Amino acid sequence: MTTRRNLLLGVTLVAAAPKKTAHKEEDVSPGEDLMREHGLLNRVLLIYEECVRQKNTRTIGAAAAIIRDFIEGYHEKLEEEFLFPRLEKADKLADLTATLRKQHARGRDITAQLIAGGGDVPQLVAKFIRMYRPHEAREDTILFPAFHELVGDKEYERLGDKFEDREHQLFGEKGFEGKVDEVAQIERQLGIYDLAQFTP
Ligand SMILES: [Fe+2]
Ligand SMILES: [Fe+2]
Repeated sequence: MTTRRNLLLGVTLVAAAPKKTAHKEEDVSPGEDLMREHGLLNRVLLIYEECVRQKNTRTIGAAAAIIRDFIEGYHEKLEEEFLFPRLEKADKLADLTATLRKQHARGRDITAQLIAGGGDVPQLVAKFIRMYRPHEAREDTILFPAFHELVGDKEYERLGDKFEDREHQLFGEKGFEGKVDEVAQIERQLGIYDLAQFTP
């Protein structure tokens, strides 16, 4: 029975369908998004340690390129553009954001040196890891919760969509998952992919 009502219903369903299927839209909050990215950063830090252990400087360059493109070119830009200014404007955690900004800049220097293959690689890697472990831990436990509290749920959610859009704009359809695959590939090359090997 093709009543006008059914036709209209059909049109509505068809119109609504692509929204759901065109782009698998999971609702990831900005905090979860940024923390996943810290997880990726941590995996690269493990790669750095293993490269130094194996004296494999070539692979360090490949891992450093992931840091440059994804962590420095995307993740830290989000923090610098959306999180730090909002907190600074509200006069919140100013000392912390100043230090975090400075550390991003120092991190970029070190990454550039690692990619260029210059300098004392084990020492550069040690400095990078020493700085980034407390850096990201402070963001996870202090900065991100303070930011969420400051902006409220609605703006927080809106920002999540914005982050997601930029992620796909910069890194294509696969976005974050594509970077995780790249990291896993390097882990396999180094023989540190199999997680079970780390169980004591
Ligand atoms: Fe940061
Ligand atoms: Fe971060």
